[in-house]
Amino acid sequence: MTHWITVFCFCALLISGIEIVISHPRFYWGEVGNVGTSPLFTIPIPSSRGTVPTGYGFVMPDQNGWSRYLHFQTAWALVLTGLVYGLAGLWTGHFWKDLVPERGDRKWRAYWGRTAQYLRRTPPEAREANSYNVLQRTAYLGVIFVLFPLVIWTGLASSPAFDSAVPAAVNLLGGRQSARTLHFFVSGALVLFLLVHVAMVALSGFRNRMRGMISGRLVVPEAAVPEEERS
Ligand code: HEM
Repeated sequence: MTHWITVFCFCALLISGIEIVISHPRFYWGEVGNVGTSPLFTIPIPSSRGTVPTGYGFVMPDQNGWSRYLHFQTAWALVLTGLVYGLAGLWTGHFWKDLVPERGDRKWRAYWGRTAQYLRRTPPEAREANSYNVLQRTAYLGVIFVLFPLVIWTGLASSPAFDSAVPAAVNLLGGRQSARTLHFFVSGALVLFLLVHVAMVALSGFRNRMRGMISGRLVVPEAAVPEEERS
């Protein structure tokens, strides 16, 4: 449930986030950034604000109002969903049992080995039928405990209200405009994760993985069942 609410929120955040970027496709470093200061970089797209210099001779339709409302509202829905997921994961031991790499896998050799297996398209080992491999575990842990907390922190730090309430949390990131720039890159990393994640689900059997995810019933391919357990 928390995964699919997250997917829904993520899509809404992505669409509204793109609209917000279109209203000002210039990024800055430090506390202050506006059309009068020089940007760190500019995304070469037209803007929905006539006052923003983009080099284009036209202005996009302005969708900034609803986008900001939706972005902020959905971010809170995602934070609450994340809290439920986090508490459930701690309570049930899911993080330790299923996401922290197994003791024998905590070495570079295990990472290279599994990567090579993917590249050679070797069928997964039997133990992977009902558990995540070391690459999946590390990617999921990175998303849950690094990228998500970062995207929330940098997003909150981009808000003037948060900046005046907790300036120390914004200064640590280098200022409000730095927070916005970092927010953009962390969101990009999450989009990259999503693309690879969905591609891997598709490659490993979309219907089966989705059935397993939603109903708990996973069809284990014959090749992945150890010989002595085959009927
Ligand atoms: C339409 C998009 C998505 C699909 C189809 C999808 C599908 C799945 C599936 C089938 C699994 C089970 C793992 C497996 O069978 O290998 C999974 C797990 C997971 N997904 Fe997604 N996912 C999507 C979007 C996302 C997004 C947007 C995020 C977060 C940014 C995300 C984060 C995760 C995480 C962290 C897990 C592991 C959760 C756990 O076991 O506690 N997914 N996903």
